[in-house]
Amino acid sequence: MSLNLRNRSLLTVQDYTQREFRYLLDLARDLKRAKYARTEQKHLEGREICLIFEKTSTRTRCAFEVACYDQGANVTYLDPAGSQIGHKESFKDTARVLGRMFDAIEYRGASQAGVEQLAKYAGVPVYNGLTDEYHPTQMLADVMTMREHSDKPLSEIRYAFVGDTRSNMGHSLMIAGCLMGMDVRICGPKPLWPSAEHQKIARDLEARYGAKLTITDDIKAAVKDVDFIHTDVWVSMGEPEELWKQRISLLTPYQVNTGLMKASGNPHVRFMHCLPAFHDTETTLGKQIAETCGMINGVEVTNDVFESEANIAFEQAENRMHTIKALLVATLGD
Ligand code: CP
Ligand code: NVA
Repeated sequence: MSLNLRNRSLLTVQDYTQREFRYLLDLARDLKRAKYARTEQKHLEGREICLIFEKTSTRTRCAFEVACYDQGANVTYLDPAGSQIGHKESFKDTARVLGRMFDAIEYRGASQAGVEQLAKYAGVPVYNGLTDEYHPTQMLADVMTMREHSDKPLSEIRYAFVGDTRSNMGHSLMIAGCLMGMDVRICGPKPLWPSAEHQKIARDLEARYGAKLTITDDIKAAVKDVDFIHTDVWVSMGEPEELWKQRISLLTPYQVNTGLMKASGNPHVRFMHCLPAFHDTETTLGKQIAETCGMINGVEVTNDVFESEANIAFEQAENRMHTIKALLVATLGD
């Protein structure tokens, strides 16, 4: 395919055309197969990649690091407390420093405007590893995973995202599905719906690519006949813990449980989650929520659904690495 993504940043999904996004998905599939077949070749030797994490991470950090090592690049990790960015030094100044040392920069933090400033002034590709508004690298993995679990063309796949639809994941799944021409149902209580501005971005893509977007608070209608049900945590990183009680009362009707999986009417429906998930009491916060709010069998997803064969979230997590590798190779590779 004659496409050139060299030196491109990934700040939001909507910066890419459907063809460009597909190109990354195809490259990720090739790189995944090469890794499994032990035939992978290194296209990033000598590249220096800076990983800035102002919020914590397991998957995104590991995906970037393993992808870089597999491809021969070096990484420098700046942890949430380990850089001057934002506190003592502006995004603009940080960008002009790091752009002189690195071939590319990954940034995870609260501010979408911040990652956009980095990209504007660094002079090297910048990848958004999650902001309060968007999670674009996650979208590559999510679409790749749906593609792997369906014999249908992407445009015939139907999925629902249920829960806090105004979050980075809600926005991103709404927009990415429209970009790929899919049947997307975004479902949650009205007070947590995406802003008019985010809806417009999705509606424009819906029209452009012949997608079908439904935004609804009717959970039964949202999941009817879908191939995949996605959810995410009800309180995101950076939001105050006091929100848990309010979110639980708003979102409990939108929990993914066995009844909801059955309501799809599809015995092969799959469960997806970007992770981490609150599905049991094995974490400090999961235990605390169970004790204070009485959610003993999981929060956004019940433990039985999470532990069932329908759950493909761990494949989704693995695909973070293959897709991020594709992004790096396409934008920086030899
Ligand atoms: N899904 C995801 O971004 O996970 P991490 O927060 O662990 O990176
Ligand atoms: N919405 C979640 C996604 C985590 C990958 C958060 O921002 O915490």
